[in-house]
Amino acid sequence: DKYDIAVIGLSVMGRSLALNMADHGYRVAVYNRSKEVTEAMVKEYPHEGIQPYYSLEELTGALRRPRKIIMMIKAGAPVDAVIGNLAPLLEEGDILMDGGNSFFEDTRRRSKLLEQQGIRYYGVGISGGEEGARFGPSIMPGGDADAYGEIGPILRDISAKAEGEPCCTYIGPDGAGHYVKMVHNGIEYADMQLIAEAYLLLKYIGGFDNQRLSEIFGEWQSGELKSYLIGITADILKEPDDCTTGELVDYILDSAAQKGTGRWTSIESLKQGIDVSMITAACNARVMSNRLQEREKAFRLLKGPDVTAAGEPLSFIRMVREGLYAAKILAYAQGFSLLKDASKQYEWNLELGKIASIFRAGCIIQAVFLNDITAAFQENPNLENLLFHEFFRQGIEKNQGSLREIVTQGIKSGLPLPAMTNALAYLDAFRGAHVGANLIQAQRDCFGAHTYLRTDQEGSFHHDWGKKKED
Ligand code: 6PG
Repeated sequence: DKYDIAVIGLSVMGRSLALNMADHGYRVAVYNRSKEVTEAMVKEYPHEGIQPYYSLEELTGALRRPRKIIMMIKAGAPVDAVIGNLAPLLEEGDILMDGGNSFFEDTRRRSKLLEQQGIRYYGVGISGGEEGARFGPSIMPGGDADAYGEIGPILRDISAKAEGEPCCTYIGPDGAGHYVKMVHNGIEYADMQLIAEAYLLLKYIGGFDNQRLSEIFGEWQSGELKSYLIGITADILKEPDDCTTGELVDYILDSAAQKGTGRWTSIESLKQGIDVSMITAACNARVMSNRLQEREKAFRLLKGPDVTAAGEPLSFIRMVREGLYAAKILAYAQGFSLLKDASKQYEWNLELGKIASIFRAGCIIQAVFLNDITAAFQENPNLENLLFHEFFRQGIEKNQGSLREIVTQGIKSGLPLPAMTNALAYLDAFRGAHVGANLIQAQRDCFGAHTYLRTDQEGSFHHDWGKKKED
């Protein structure tokens, strides 16, 4: 009569996950720090598989061993606090999971700490928002490989299914699951920013109203851009406002919030030395959007060019679609190259094909496009960069002209397109025979004797710059 698993933390995500587990026949014990939340949950969402507990002692006492517990609480200090209270009640072999958006270095630290007590700690990335948690998220579990045998069946059962396969796979040891979730969110930021830029282009240069914009994004749902984010965008654009006339989107303040996972991705990329400029651009775009007062002042003081209307509407829409697709390929190429590097650096042995495959459903970045990425890594698990795969190479070849065209039109009209602009800069630096770094090395050697390498000779050199050649 013992319980299979416990969920600690019953706000939206925890509650939804507990109900999802109970729907799949698991006996779930639930607990929340404030009693009222637990009471409200079992009252509003009664389920025969769910049993509330009001102390951690009772909760841990009710679980079958090895105990399986998942924390669904706010990342940061609250996780350490719960671990502090819970660890003395756990025994060797028990499995403690953190299903929140914790920073992967915190997960690594906590894993090490709990390992000393024989507790198997798991950092579990979970994507899909409330709907996903309730009916099938994408799940990225990272921790002790042996323990996966215990928790894998439950996590797979409650996960989304893509072509019948669970969107859950063992990711790797210690912080690997949370790292992959972090990069998922970084890609999510870039994807959202790219869609916002396509919206700006269509609205201001294309001159389309919200109904038409909604139709355009809706049409894109039947092609290569088909994705959860494009789908909700089409719906959002036609959503009427409750308070006044027109669509709600026009009344929403032009300032985007963030909780930090995109920024972490950008910071980690700089530490690792991997270019994810589009994710960084997406973070900066949100940061800039928040400077409302300064932006208002700049709007009054700093003049730019007038918007030049698009030519033939249908070909402009096509160009934006193709340009968006090219930029999307580049964003995913950046994100997956960061994962590849992390795998090496942390010795996680990440299987990028499997990771792409669990992004096919359940998560925020789910898209048909993920089938192509999955196939590319299945074909070549060591693929260095997505752009080297024939499918994506061709995708870039076919669509980069449109990306260049819409970025040019946007810049001429004074529209901010940071993610699309960085997409092109990344592509051109990557494929460019010359990036100007010879001059940078010369400057470094000139002012600081930092030396340089030569194209025609081995070894490192220093030059006495400015000293005339002896005759
Ligand atoms: C998910 C999401 C989710 C994230 C939100 C908001 O995969 O379900 O990534 O974990 O919290 O998308 O993130 P920001 O507040 O940083 O935009």
